[in-house]
Amino acid sequence: MGVRFKGWGIGVPERVITNDELSLTLDTSDEWITERTGIRERRVGGSAVSLGVIAGRNAIEDSGLLVGDIDFLVVATTTPDRLCPASAPMIANELGMDCPAMDLNAACSGFMYAVRTAQGLLETGNKRILVIGSENLSRWVDWTDRNMAVLLGDGAGAAVLEYDETINDVLSFVLGADGSAADLLTCEHGGYFQMDGKEVFRRAVRVVVDSAEEAMKIADVSPDDISLVIPHQANIRIIQAATKRLGIPMERTVITLDRYGNTSSSSIPLAFFDARENGRVKAGEYALMTGFGAGMTWASAIVKWSR
Ligand code: ACO
Repeated sequence: MGVRFKGWGIGVPERVITNDELSLTLDTSDEWITERTGIRERRVGGSAVSLGVIAGRNAIEDSGLLVGDIDFLVVATTTPDRLCPASAPMIANELGMDCPAMDLNAACSGFMYAVRTAQGLLETGNKRILVIGSENLSRWVDWTDRNMAVLLGDGAGAAVLEYDETINDVLSFVLGADGSAADLLTCEHGGYFQMDGKEVFRRAVRVVVDSAEEAMKIADVSPDDISLVIPHQANIRIIQAATKRLGIPMERTVITLDRYGNTSSSSIPLAFFDARENGRVKAGEYALMTGFGAGMTWASAIVKWSR
């Protein structure tokens, strides 16, 4: 018995901000941003609720189910529309859902934490759960601060998970948190995102590698078995360093940060969706989904797609 991914959807703003456009107002350049991060452009606009509604609606449609079939909504967001109420009940209302709905904040690991939460809910009686990662990071960016402004973007990605008596798509899960590193990446009330980029970088590589290795061990697979890596999209150099240490070729890794920047809890479902659109998600193959973020938090899972 287990859970299977039944449908996926995304919602991204139309407005594109290129590196060249940022260079008009910031002391930066396309060359610096591309070289140091891999990011070429990002989408900006909408809100956690409005983007989440689009992604959620698309995922339900993709699953072939009806809104009424979903019996729980978990929304991962670091940037809810309001401090209170949570964004999930508003998303549920706009989608016409009549079920429990809650937010979860694990920063860039949020989508993975939400899938893990959904897995637990499915194993204890729920049948179908909509999981959404939705972020409006641009609202909390100081657009005169070149350290953060070049990195972040807005967007949402969603998945419908279903309880299944015979199939299990999620073979292992390793999650972690270390609040002693809380000050490395913060956004105070009424403030903007701030980060010790170098230290976040160092720790990110370490926690991704450690958690991914443990997840592979639990699932009894080796790096050679992994045909697809779906990592959190923060910086191409973090992804390169982590996959190199894991012994998984970069060609097997999904990269979307060039087009979306870092969209926090939305980045993994956005990357999955991109891989599927490009025919890279194949039934019966193993994938590593792995993320890290403020908190610090981290999460790795080994998934075997049943369809
Ligand atoms: N444009 C041009 N120059 C810049 C910019 C910029 N946007 N930002 C910094 N610089 C300058 C610095 O001032 C520095 O100049 P100096 O040598 O004269 O002092 C030089 O470029 C190098 O700066 P570093 O900070 O050393 O650059 P680094 O290679 O470490 O890259 C970066 C910085 C991209 C932030 C990197 O450290 C990183 O990606 N860290 C991790 C970020 C991350 O993963 N965040 C995760 C989560 S975000 C969230 O959760 C919402």
